Amino acid sequence: MDTVFEGSMGPQAMRRAGSQIEALKERLGRTPTACVITFGCQMNARDSEKLEGVLAEAGFAITDSEDADFLLYNTCTVRENADNRLFGRLGARGSELKHSPWKKLAVCGCMMQEQINVEKIKKSYPYVDLIFGTHNLYTFPALLDAVYAPENEGEMIISILPEADRIMEELPARRKYPFKSGVNIMFGCDNYCTYCIVPYVRGRERSRKKADILAEVRTLAADGVREVMLLGQNVNSYGIKVPAGEEADYGTFPELLAAVAETPGIGRVRFMTSHPKDLSDELIEVIRTHDNISRHLHLPLQSGSDEILRRMNRRYTKEQYLSLCDRIRSSVPDIALTTDIIVGFPGETSADVDETIDVVRRVRFQNAFTFIYSRRNGTPAASYPDQPEPERVKRDFDRLLAVVQQTAREECGKSRGLTGTVMVEGVNENDPSLLTGRLSDNLLVHFPGTPDLIGKFTDVELTEAKGFYFLGKQVGTPW
Ligand code: 5AD
Ligand code: SF4
Repeated sequence: MDTVFEGSMGPQAMRRAGSQIEALKERLGRTPTACVITFGCQMNARDSEKLEGVLAEAGFAITDSEDADFLLYNTCTVRENADNRLFGRLGARGSELKHSPWKKLAVCGCMMQEQINVEKIKKSYPYVDLIFGTHNLYTFPALLDAVYAPENEGEMIISILPEADRIMEELPARRKYPFKSGVNIMFGCDNYCTYCIVPYVRGRERSRKKADILAEVRTLAADGVREVMLLGQNVNSYGIKVPAGEEADYGTFPELLAAVAETPGIGRVRFMTSHPKDLSDELIEVIRTHDNISRHLHLPLQSGSDEILRRMNRRYTKEQYLSLCDRIRSSVPDIALTTDIIVGFPGETSADVDETIDVVRRVRFQNAFTFIYSRRNGTPAASYPDQPEPERVKRDFDRLLAVVQQTAREECGKSRGLTGTVMVEGVNENDPSLLTGRLSDNLLVHFPGTPDLIGKFTDVELTEAKGFYFLGKQVGTPW
């Protein structure tokens, strides 16, 4: 039986979930464990912190091990290989569940907003206990309660809303890092790039109120957070589509960014992602005048060909993109630009990829994420007749990648010999005598130091460039 679950968030649901987990604890004779595996972007990573917050509050011990008593996959569907990875994991989990009948398996996130994926799970992975979507995360306490309710034993609970009915403000979050945190400023996307599934699975664009965002930032700062990353599919359209008469409750993205940067205790602010068509001179000015706003801008290019950009519905031209990069660089010379590029969009030719390569050579990205076009059902581009020829795409992709890597390596090495400020994020995974810190421009530096510096800012001299990171030496007093 499918249950379309109308449960709500709230202290009562949380208490009921807590007592179910208490009963499980008695049955197992130990604290039950829960694990959330995240696929995809920063938005999903932040959602997972909220899901973990609920699980921890309900009484689970959170673990990284998929062997957990409650396992939740938070899925991504932006490209096809993400879908395949999930189904592989679900298949592998089947026999495990047979041997441990108390264990529960749940799936949520973007993939679950597509009916076809829910149907596939119902048919091929009937042992999944819970499926929910992106729009009803706030009902998770009630869903958790339902999964463990004795009367639902053996049922698959499915709870998907077609559209977001509200912005949730109340979920607790369990932060991966004590000293840095993502902060959602808006949800969804209305841009409808023709290759992209996001508008269909994350819904219409909606912004959180400025006062709510700033209150969250102040609470985080009081809790020891020094760095925040403002998150949205297109942060530059923050506050644009809001209820008539309520504009003052939002303001613009540059105003919000400045207010966050000026919050006492916040040492660094990042944001992600910016659509080039909406990036204003006002934003560039706010970055220039606040040295705690990171010197890094992720500005997805997707293609350098005007014809392909038009077919992608990106609403800028190659020249407009190049002139935007010039304006940014002339105002904030030390800023690092990174980008996303798709190769193999329907109708693309090698001459179009030459245009993309030309932009890479001229802008000199510090890093570029390159993707092979993935046909997503339900998007306009999926029905374009001239789908790409894989051999040609592979050749052009490799050509592009060679230029991306060469220019990126040169760009990354440019700061060698200089001194920069890092936020110390942890002990180096391969060499415990080293710490790993992140520069304002997002590059990593490994340098000798002791773990008491984790979560602090310090200056480091960048002694050696290692391709895409630096080796360094700490200078001055950390703060
Ligand atoms: N195929 C390949 N790449 C895609 N992206 C989004 N949709 C697709 C798709 N269908 C890429 C874009 C976007 C990044 C997050 O993922 O480059 O900026
Ligand atoms: Fe997808 Fe385009 Fe929206 Fe980015 S701006 S999420 S690529 S539709």
